[in-house]
Amino acid sequence: MKLVTGNSNRALAQAVASYLELPLTDCTVKRFSDNEIYVEVHENVRGEDVFILQSTSFPANDNLMELLILTDALRRSSARRITAVLPYFGYARQDRKSASRTPISAKLVANLITEAGVNRVITLDLHAAQIQGFFDIPTDNLYGAPVMVRDIQENYGSGNVMIVSPDVGGVARARAIAQRIGADLAIVDKRRPRAGVSEVMNIIGDVSGQACILIDDIVDSGGTLVNAAEALLKAGAKEVSAYITHGVLSNSAAERIATSKLKELVITDSIEETDLTKKAANIRRLTIAPLIGEAIARTASEQSVSSLLD
Ligand code: R5P
Repeated sequence: MKLVTGNSNRALAQAVASYLELPLTDCTVKRFSDNEIYVEVHENVRGEDVFILQSTSFPANDNLMELLILTDALRRSSARRITAVLPYFGYARQDRKSASRTPISAKLVANLITEAGVNRVITLDLHAAQIQGFFDIPTDNLYGAPVMVRDIQENYGSGNVMIVSPDVGGVARARAIAQRIGADLAIVDKRRPRAGVSEVMNIIGDVSGQACILIDDIVDSGGTLVNAAEALLKAGAKEVSAYITHGVLSNSAAERIATSKLKELVITDSIEETDLTKKAANIRRLTIAPLIGEAIARTASEQSVSSLLD
């Protein structure tokens, strides 16, 4: 087998390579002067089971294009099977027509990845579980929950916290974690008047005196989290922390989190950290390298990955 990466998250790719005790395949992935992407694979991949680790995170279009071009290079080099390992699948939030005459970009991106020559996909905490069906190839959607539950138990204990979903759409995800640690669940009734802006309308559940932990798949502008934290504290919560799989953290979101009332934001390394996230004192990272590495190892040896979902 071979493990290949583009430029989206080299730190995670290196950590996965260490877990697998497999060196990263020697590839050039660079830009021409007009910003076109150029790829060259410097090792023979004929007949190999190849895994390309690439998050389609910021800059989403560049990272997606690197993935497509790497796939094309590997397919034309006679790789036996190509698996796209997408710790973060960008464009996932565009999973339905949000208004008349709008695209379903998540489906288009899934089609592009498949058409480029990818044979199967491994991803993590898709924004909506049904996006798995956008790929007409075998797709494993791993969960960050087991990693988060372990960390919550170590740092907050079981039974001392209340799990909170920051919106109605995230209830299933938050409930799964609440059940695992035996905690109660509260729900924030969030409205999004327009993209990038969120408002808290109500809190469903009694959070007074509770240490609340918000659970979500994505933190982007940070608005959802910061507003939810303020509303929970106003409703009497003792403290508010958050566990979020994908730290998109666009623009000045990390600063917004750092200056917010959130005690701590825990994100995974599905998206590479920036200088701004490194600087934020209340942002901590949990690695998913062993989870991704194990999923790759089991896929390569045709073993079940379902126990990784427990
Ligand atoms: C929305 O449904 C997602 O699960 C997240 O809550 C959302 O993407 C977070 O965005 P932001 O941080 O910009 O409020």
